[in-house]
Amino acid sequence: WAIHAPYVVAINRLKAERDAVILGHNYMSPQVFHGICDVVGDSLQLAVKAQEVKASVIVQCGVHFMAETSKVLNPQKTVLMPDMEAGCSLAESITAEGVAQMRARYPGAPVVTYVNTTAEVKAASDICCTSSNAAQIVAALDADTVIMLPDQYLAQNVAKQVPHKRIVWWEGSCIVHEQFTAKELREFRDWNPDTRIIAHPECPPDVVAEADYTGSTSGIIAYVGREQPQKALLVTECSMASNIADAHPKVDFVGPCMMCPYMKMITLEKVLWSLHTMTTPVDVAPELIKGAALAVERMIEMSR
Ligand code: 13P
Ligand code: SF4
Repeated sequence: WAIHAPYVVAINRLKAERDAVILGHNYMSPQVFHGICDVVGDSLQLAVKAQEVKASVIVQCGVHFMAETSKVLNPQKTVLMPDMEAGCSLAESITAEGVAQMRARYPGAPVVTYVNTTAEVKAASDICCTSSNAAQIVAALDADTVIMLPDQYLAQNVAKQVPHKRIVWWEGSCIVHEQFTAKELREFRDWNPDTRIIAHPECPPDVVAEADYTGSTSGIIAYVGREQPQKALLVTECSMASNIADAHPKVDFVGPCMMCPYMKMITLEKVLWSLHTMTTPVDVAPELIKGAALAVERMIEMSR
């Protein structure tokens, strides 16, 4: 912390001067997560909080699609991305053209789009979802066939939870969660039978089948808080365990994790520079803002 302290002090001072609020995802590095974020949470919580922001500037400590979501919900505010290269393999896997192809293949089926997409894709969709509300939203839709995109694994995991619907999906995946395998988890459990395995639903279904609990990043935090397992293996991005370890001193967080190279692009140095120079503001084409906001707002409404 001694190395980070000067950045934390400078950022928190500049934040007040610029009338800025910092929204941070649960996958931020601990020094960002604990040091400078005003609000932390999963994708749904960040979208809900973005709706309520009073400050004139939002600094998004997360990836680009999260900043776009904040922007479409706050078109009059300045939304800053500390590193515009912080993307997401899911968001990059599909364009509005892909959404049109799916609609043509499954006429009349509603399109449920994961928030991990560009504003252009959201605007071409009927409603958004996150990993914390996907099953709830799909179940509530008045349709037998539902298109879910772009995460094939989230769609397959939801299909198991909502078996009375036909769910069709796009072939996107998260480069972090697709790396875990059921075999390694089985082997891990053989050697560590007392460890609770906790997975994110972006993992393939056979990985999820090995887990004791599967949920969004906030679901994972709530589960650990509730259950207080002696040992926990978080089958997700590495910073999750580091960020919640202090709050759960009795839980031993063990085992392998995967790093999201995009989330890790957001550093204290870049946030300081971003606030100092007011760069880089995220722009969403005016013709996309209304449609994208509608898809996100519908999701928030249905999640209440
Ligand atoms: P949640 O925080 O909504 O679970 O999302 C995880 C993720 O991969 C975000 O990029
Ligand atoms: Fe995208 Fe996966 Fe990184 Fe989340 S963890 S930002 S889904 S690549």
